[in-house]
Amino acid sequence: MKKILITGGAGFIGSHVVRWFVNAYSDYQIINLDKLTYAGNLANLAEIENRNNYSFVKGDITDSTFINKLFLDEKPDAVIHLAAESHVDRSISNPSEFVMTNVVGTVNLLNAAKEYWRDDYSNKRFYHVSTDEVYGTLGEKGMFTEKTAYDPHSPYSASKASSDHFVRAYADTYGLNTVISNCSNNYGSHHFPEKLIPLAINNIKNNKPVPVYGKGENIRDWLWVEDHARAIDVIFHNAKSGETYNIGGHNEWKNIDLIRLLCKIMDQKLGRESGTSEKLIAFVTDRAGHDLRYAIDSTKLQRELGWTPSLQFEEGLEKTVDWYLSNEEWLSNVTSGNYQRYYEEQYSLR
Ligand code: NAD
Ligand code: DAU
Repeated sequence: MKKILITGGAGFIGSHVVRWFVNAYSDYQIINLDKLTYAGNLANLAEIENRNNYSFVKGDITDSTFINKLFLDEKPDAVIHLAAESHVDRSISNPSEFVMTNVVGTVNLLNAAKEYWRDDYSNKRFYHVSTDEVYGTLGEKGMFTEKTAYDPHSPYSASKASSDHFVRAYADTYGLNTVISNCSNNYGSHHFPEKLIPLAINNIKNNKPVPVYGKGENIRDWLWVEDHARAIDVIFHNAKSGETYNIGGHNEWKNIDLIRLLCKIMDQKLGRESGTSEKLIAFVTDRAGHDLRYAIDSTKLQRELGWTPSLQFEEGLEKTVDWYLSNEEWLSNVTSGNYQRYYEEQYSLR
């Protein structure tokens, strides 16, 4: 496969995936298609923007005419689809946008792939990047496997679940060569500071309250974002058509414990007296429909394709803090303007 269309490549995970593929495969052409919403930022890709095997196209996956023309002009051999509205809290205030991008946008891409690859689907590939949130929530025990029934609770996870179903339907009905992976919470550099870890880093740095929803007892399974990019590479190249793989860090943290660890690291990095940052923790009104616990069983991926997570969480979190503290310009650029408005609206009533 020579030409890969990566959607959402200017976002958090997408930029790591684009960087990974551009660096690892000089004989591939990587086309990054992104609408550049508030979450898309070409500065994330400054390091590779002049590479011969990379190009950027600005466009909207909800625009089927544009998508069809792009397939006609570029003739991609494969799609790795990450473009999405990705923040649960935004999906609670504006569900329709999530249906448009995550469901309609995915179907537009599937339609274009079905049409332009119809001579022979076998050497083409549609890789859909999805989330563990489609499985719903766990109690104290158990893990999500690839066989866990879908049970989404937020408009975000419902839209992702719907898109997963469409991808499988196109494989079953039309024979499209598809793969889906469902991943747990990612963390690392270039993460937009509306999500828990980068938001907390930014607030601690600026001595602002760190909002913890409810009692902070919800549990997430955190994965280093570059480990996700590496998993996508392995699955993209080796999975059989129609397969699904779960990707996770085997790294469960209660939100409050994670925030306390982060406060400790920030105290050290900022030269503050131990315990200073913890005083910023503020328990606020819980997220509606808040899933209690996510935990991924990635045995299938480990056993069949030999992937394992590479980084211990404490080390990864420290590297993440270092990145944010040494990239102040990136942080101040993305937290000016609209971000301030979003923050006021999202947190003033909590
Ligand atoms: P993100 O919000 O950081 O980035 C999304 C990107 O998609 C942005 O660059 C944005 O401009 C682009 N985009 C949005 N709407 C678009 C449209 N209509 N047309 C073209 N581009 C559009 O998201 P992320 O956290 O990097 O997540 C990427 C993918 O991975 C998503 O599909 C998400 O569901 C999935 N995922 C995320 C996580 C996580 O922890 N962040 C975990 C598992 C799966
Ligand atoms: O599990 C994978 C999913 O992880 C991805 O599909 C989503 O795109 C991604 O955003 C993420 O969803 P979460 O809702 O788990 O991530 P978020 O960072 O928004 O929240 C993590 C936890 O922290 C969650 O329990 C809610 C809580 N939280 C979040 C924010 C923003 C807080 O306590 N305070 C906050 O201010």
